Amino acid sequence: MRERTTKISHEAVEAQRALARSIQARADAPKTYHITTYGCQMNAHDSESIAGILGEMGMAPESQQEQADLILFNTCCIRDNAERRAMGNIIFTKEIKKQRPRALVGVLGCMVQQQGAAEKLREKQRHVDFALGTGEIYRLPERILHALEGRREAAFREGEDSTLYEGMPVLRQSPFMAYLTVMYGCDNFCSYCVVPSVRGRERSRRLEDIVLEAKGLVADGVQEIMLLGQNVNSYGLDGAGPRFPALLKALHEETGVQRLRFMTSNPKDLSDELILEMSENPAVCPHLHLPAQSGSDRMLKAMNRRYTRAMYDQRLWALREAMPDIGITTDLIVAFPGETEEDFEETLDLVARSRFDSAFTFVFSPRTGTVAAELPGRISQPVARERITRLIKAQEGITRAVFEGLVGSCAQVLAEGPAKRGKGRLSGKTGRGMGITFEGGAELIGQIVPVKVTGFGSNTLKGEIMQ
Ligand code: SAH
Ligand code: SF4
Ligand code: F3S
Repeated sequence: MRERTTKISHEAVEAQRALARSIQARADAPKTYHITTYGCQMNAHDSESIAGILGEMGMAPESQQEQADLILFNTCCIRDNAERRAMGNIIFTKEIKKQRPRALVGVLGCMVQQQGAAEKLREKQRHVDFALGTGEIYRLPERILHALEGRREAAFREGEDSTLYEGMPVLRQSPFMAYLTVMYGCDNFCSYCVVPSVRGRERSRRLEDIVLEAKGLVADGVQEIMLLGQNVNSYGLDGAGPRFPALLKALHEETGVQRLRFMTSNPKDLSDELILEMSENPAVCPHLHLPAQSGSDRMLKAMNRRYTRAMYDQRLWALREAMPDIGITTDLIVAFPGETEEDFEETLDLVARSRFDSAFTFVFSPRTGTVAAELPGRISQPVARERITRLIKAQEGITRAVFEGLVGSCAQVLAEGPAKRGKGRLSGKTGRGMGITFEGGAELIGQIVPVKVTGFGSNTLKGEIMQ
């Protein structure tokens, strides 16, 4: 077992708070902000911390980007298209600054944490005022100060990512659903993935700190907590403390939270203890996102996923045996270097047999600095397109069949808000994680209600409240 090398710092966060107060007193301090967020739930939650910090600095959110004094981008670089989309929008803010030269533009998130990225931004995008990587969000006040003072060197400095910062303010987007980070980083080094290099090594928060935060959320009226980690079921493996099943147990017993979800889980760390805890813990929702990536052992090996197709199947069916109503969703990559038609058909076969509720499907995107970017056997665009189209179609048929099977059943639904279409209808999520719409009044929003499934559309269920 490795020794815990992670430092935990409350002091650093407090020092930034004090700095934030002094910046607020400056005449040139920004008064409003706008954040554009890309990427996964970790980024969505980081944006909630960013908003929390800015709120403590006395700033108010501004929905129109071009009107804001502080324009922020919380970026993602998981695939090339994610990065290009963000970069296009960052470049466009040059136009905004022509009209409003005093507005500040800051780039945050995973893109900036890539080696040399902050420096490149500093040199090539003169209208960008500062950059800040994922490991140092708490330092936002200091970066804003450097930007106001025009100290470009300091405003783009690359930071460390091995410290855990406790006590950051958070401005949550929903009053009854909340994200809670339990571990940061990833040590898996899947051969295609940038996350280990942009989110750093795995570091688990202390169980007591997590439980304390969860208690605060429940006291605030939160019904559903989503535990976050790139590798969430590896919680605790970086130290001698409790593991993930013990964390789930403590959260249920000590906070009384109605619903617990967590993502993302790596199949190789889905232990029997975890499956048992999931099946016994009444707060754990009957849903698991379990990325398979491929159905071919050859591809799984090249991806460095450290499980085989048989191991994945074994885990999936062990879960279903323990929790017959569980819904399983997945991520799949097609056109990984060297993928043959036979390899791809094994992925189709995995999909046919696994009966996922849904799947996120991606075409392999080579990322600089990863092992897979250097592999021979790149697949041509037309072949990649053709494969992903077949895969999506196969999964669509299965999703439909799963939906059909649910008609007539009863689901516990957390009502989230008015449905986009249909007057007097609400939309919500079942324990299994599916979207559902049903007739109901605004007083139900934020509550968990029993709903009978009566039909479905292409992506969501339809239902009626049970009296
Ligand atoms: N930690 C999670 C996934 C994080 S990234 C896990 O291990 O499952 C989300 C998904 O993006 C991955 O599951 C993978 O399917 C996809 N992905 C990551 N890097 C990619 C790349 N270079 N090209 C295509 N898809 C990628
Ligand atoms: Fe990336 Fe693999 Fe880590 Fe997921 S487990 S974040 S895919 S390296
Ligand atoms: Fe993207 Fe970073 Fe998440 S690269 S997927 S925002 S961890």
